[in-house]
Amino acid sequence: MQLLMCQPSHYGIEYEINPWMKRSRQSDAVLAARQWNELQRVLAEKLPAEIHLIDAMPGLPDMVFTANAGLVWQNKFIVSNFRHEVRRGEAAHSEQWFRARGFEIVQLPEKYYFEGEGDLLRCGELWFAGYHIRSDIMAHQKVAEILDREILSLELTSGWFYHLDTCFCPLSDKIALFYPPAFDDYAKTVLEEHIPDLIPVPANEAERFACNAVVGGNNVVMNTGCPVARGKLEDLGFNVYETALDEFLKAGGSAKCLTLIMG
Ligand code: ARG
Repeated sequence: MQLLMCQPSHYGIEYEINPWMKRSRQSDAVLAARQWNELQRVLAEKLPAEIHLIDAMPGLPDMVFTANAGLVWQNKFIVSNFRHEVRRGEAAHSEQWFRARGFEIVQLPEKYYFEGEGDLLRCGELWFAGYHIRSDIMAHQKVAEILDREILSLELTSGWFYHLDTCFCPLSDKIALFYPPAFDDYAKTVLEEHIPDLIPVPANEAERFACNAVVGGNNVVMNTGCPVARGKLEDLGFNVYETALDEFLKAGGSAKCLTLIMG
């Protein structure tokens, strides 16, 4: 498994674009670096994953959340169209990074917001995509044409769980973690119809980003403090590795947001 990450050298809470972010509640740079290094180590050793790095840029504090850079599919990189102006500068850097490595760059129509893998997750042969808060449903259609795959669109209803990867975590084609209150009723029906083993996580663990886990085969890496989710996964035969990511929760992100799957 190959993952793209970005060091938190310019990470901080410099604006507020989701309810987790408060400029008055700054992240600690030293602790953030330590937590990020530890996450990188656990991912490399336990998933195991090969980690690629994109350089952090001053003035782009959320670039550390590489899941939002875009979507990698075979040799294509579909570049994100960020909803918020403050993150739009990230797109040119990721585009350049992937172009330099031989990927075919695909742009979506500018009018459709799309925040990459943060809102688009694969579950076996199916793809699920979140919309309403960050990505647009029209972007899903365009991405489905590019992937030549069916995408099931799920409406997200809570500002706290604004990207699909904050409230949904596929573990195989049949198993996923999810936080039910983050979805509208129809989205919940769609999930129930397609995923036989849908595991709800309790509110306090959803708020610890239990659903924002990185999965590699039977191994799962997630934030600390999610014993219920962890227990359910272990009962199903998964190995769960916890690593503290509190400094990134302050920006509304955790393990999965800090990685982009490259294959
Ligand atoms: N502060 C970032 C934002 O609001 C956090 C992004 C988290 N990424 C994710 N894939 N959920 O955009």
